[in-house]
Amino acid sequence: MNFNLTEEQLAVREAARDFAQKELKPGVIERDSKMLYPTEQIRGMAELGFLGMMVSPEYGGGGMDTLSYVLAMEEISKVDNSCSVIMSVNNSLVCWGIETFGSEEQKQKYLPRLAAGEWIGSFCLSEPEAGSDATSQRTTAIDMGDHYLLNGTKNWITNGGTSKLHIVIAQTDAEKGHRGINAFLVEADWDGVSIGAKEDKLGIRSSDTHTIMYTDVKVPKENRIGDDGFGFKFAMKTLSGGRIGIAAQALGIAGGAYELSLAYAQERSAFGKPIIKHQAISFKLADMATDIEAAKMMVYRAAWLKDQKLDYDTASSMAKLYASEVAMRHTVEAVQIHGGYGFVKEYHVERLMRDAKITQIYEGTSEVQRIVISRAVEKGKPY
Ligand code: CAA
Ligand code: FAD
Repeated sequence: MNFNLTEEQLAVREAARDFAQKELKPGVIERDSKMLYPTEQIRGMAELGFLGMMVSPEYGGGGMDTLSYVLAMEEISKVDNSCSVIMSVNNSLVCWGIETFGSEEQKQKYLPRLAAGEWIGSFCLSEPEAGSDATSQRTTAIDMGDHYLLNGTKNWITNGGTSKLHIVIAQTDAEKGHRGINAFLVEADWDGVSIGAKEDKLGIRSSDTHTIMYTDVKVPKENRIGDDGFGFKFAMKTLSGGRIGIAAQALGIAGGAYELSLAYAQERSAFGKPIIKHQAISFKLADMATDIEAAKMMVYRAAWLKDQKLDYDTASSMAKLYASEVAMRHTVEAVQIHGGYGFVKEYHVERLMRDAKITQIYEGTSEVQRIVISRAVEKGKPY
């Protein structure tokens, strides 16, 4: 492994940092408070090529590696995690899934619009009765000969209100269990697709999370991804890569909280000296720096394994598990370092603390990551 960043990777990181600090930071508190969708900001990210970073140039994407994507996610997530989750879903769950497992026709039809950010995509796996237990799909897609008939409800869907294309996981043949599940490309404006109200959330408040209902939606046969029965494996494989994106988000949240806390501890004085000179505070910063460095190695390594086309399933779960726990632990400490100022919105750390929590829940809870890791450990699978 070599983490000496290339010129291109350094430029991506710099562009993302610059955009996050100059374009995202100024309005982030208001967008969060009022749950305002970041329309302009997403357009700006699209112009920078951040919505289809890993998509091949032949389909209109940036053709970049996973590490470049991680570096951009990290910098955006230091500031605005509503923007970074929108970016993450579009890049790693939607574009990557279509490019890796879709037909040539599906790639040509959908990827250019998604990579350019003209269309935003969503990934619809979770249901009211099937979250962690993702094989228990209640949404059905009945084979009608020339099309599938889709019925069911998906909940907690990121980009649910804005996305033009949904990847929907549904059960076609219940007798086959998870081997009877399929994944479909469903356009949001097709008859029978309806969107519920935007969720009012603890964190990532300006991202749009919705329940989506499908009632007798006719899905053409050519919109199934992969062979009949491939849908659950498609979801699992896609989530293995997605978890690297969320791990990068968690790393960014921790890094953002650390940068703010270090600056504040140097500025703020108590008992006649900057608070960083009190060992209780400097030790918190030392622990933050150490844990963030460890998380960074795990996240970059998972990205590196993916770029080398090596097995990254366990490494991505480990990176997400560890980075999300570091983000949660140290955003709480960041608020503590800021004292009373940390408890108000103006100083940004309370928002990062609220945002950190979701990284332990979505794309598989910390408990689910432990299930994946423990099974790999038991089997002696290399990681
Ligand atoms: N790659 C390929 N196949 C895989 C796989 C992987 N990474 N992981 C599992 N599979 C296969 C298994 O081999 C098995 O197939 P076979 O029987 O043919 O061998 C099949 O999938 C079922 O696997 P399990 O028996 O392990 O299934 P399980 O019921 O025990 O569940 C689980 C495993 C890991 C808990 C899984 O259900 C899971 O990941 N749950 C969490 C769901 C999740 O992450 N949801 C996220 C929604 S998207 C989101 O959240 C986006 C966002 O917020 C922004
Ligand atoms: P449950 O599965 O009911 O879990 C409840 C608790 O039980 C958790 O602590 C869990 O870890 C624990 N638990 C469950 N099973 C086990 C077990 N076997 N062993 C140990 N502990 C267990 N989903 C999508 O498909 N697409 C999206 O775009 C999307 N975006 C989201 C955005 C937000 C803001 C939120 C909140 C969720 C989003 N999700 C999305 C859904 C998310 O992936 C699920 O919430 C998550 O997978 C957990 O499922 P659940 O909420 O049903 O919890």
